[in-house]
Amino acid sequence: MTYLESAAEFYSQVAETPDVGLCCVQSTPLQLPGLVVPPQMQEMNYGCGTTVHPTELSGDPTVLYVGVGGGLEALQFSYFSRRPGAVVAVDPVAEMRKAAARNLDIAAQENEWFDPNFVTIKEGDAFALPVADNSVDVVAQNCLFNIFEPADLSRALQETYRVLKPGGRLVMSDPISTRPMPEHLQQDDRLRAMCLSGALTYEQYIQRIIHAGFGQVEVRARRPYRLLDQKNYSLDQHLLLESLDSVSFKVDIPEDGACVFTGKMAVYTGPHEYFDDQAGHILSLGIPLAVCDKTAAKLAKAHPQAIMVTESTWYYDGGGCC
Ligand SMILES: C[S@@+](CC[C@H](N)C(=O)[O-])C[C@H]1O[C@@H](n2cnc3c(N)ncnc32)[C@H](O)[C@@H]1O
Repeated sequence: MTYLESAAEFYSQVAETPDVGLCCVQSTPLQLPGLVVPPQMQEMNYGCGTTVHPTELSGDPTVLYVGVGGGLEALQFSYFSRRPGAVVAVDPVAEMRKAAARNLDIAAQENEWFDPNFVTIKEGDAFALPVADNSVDVVAQNCLFNIFEPADLSRALQETYRVLKPGGRLVMSDPISTRPMPEHLQQDDRLRAMCLSGALTYEQYIQRIIHAGFGQVEVRARRPYRLLDQKNYSLDQHLLLESLDSVSFKVDIPEDGACVFTGKMAVYTGPHEYFDDQAGHILSLGIPLAVCDKTAAKLAKAHPQAIMVTESTWYYDGGGCC
């Protein structure tokens, strides 16, 4: 049996018998006014963060959701795109598609605004998404791509790139590992399916996204996810996993490399009123400007006395203070 077949078998089991707390880090899913999440759906919250960022879902976007789980995030996305077929949710596991369809029917009884036709559940998988090239505004996946071996992760990322419209967004949440995952854990198909042993390091994960063609990546959250302890996982020291929420944009990669925003700010310290790096960044005296890590490194290196660069906050949503 391949590791992908083991994962499918595992997910057919947890579709039929929910495993509360399998992946999730929050006991309460994102609350939205007028949204009631049925308990059956909540106990199948198999996401390790969130891909639903309410302030970024204006304009009735078309959403392709990969790995439907119990349907929780498909329901949350349809809150922002209330029309038939606006959300297409793909999953290769029949039992999971069935559980999601049942949960969405229950949600329709409890949410007067929601019609199950808003979500189209389709059989398919991350390596062959059943939608046309350049056709969706948002692709989302939560706690799925980490189970893929690196070459398959790249295939899945390239497939999301194919289906996104130019400028479209890939929204993901996945565990990452604070040091390279030891080989014996990588080879454990069950732990991989449970989102515990396929995690890449932050650098490896971001590089795979960029390698698939995404020119801009923004980190929305990074937080502790699980601890693989020394004794139970046969390790020489504990291994902390984190969960990373990110948004990657289908825009060209600039000549000097992709832009990755992790919350760093550049602040001009004087002596003039402002500083212009002649590369599109104008820094007013004393006012922090959000910059990508590439620009942060360039500014800090070229102007160590005049520009202060702050640390990554691991939160960036494009906003500034004024
Ligand atoms: C960890 S669960 C996450 C479910 C959901 N995203 C959530 O946040 O609750 C992984 C989901 O991906 C599905 N899945 C497994 N292999 C897949 C594949 N190759 N392509 C797409 N989905 C897959 C599983 O059936 C399951 O629904």
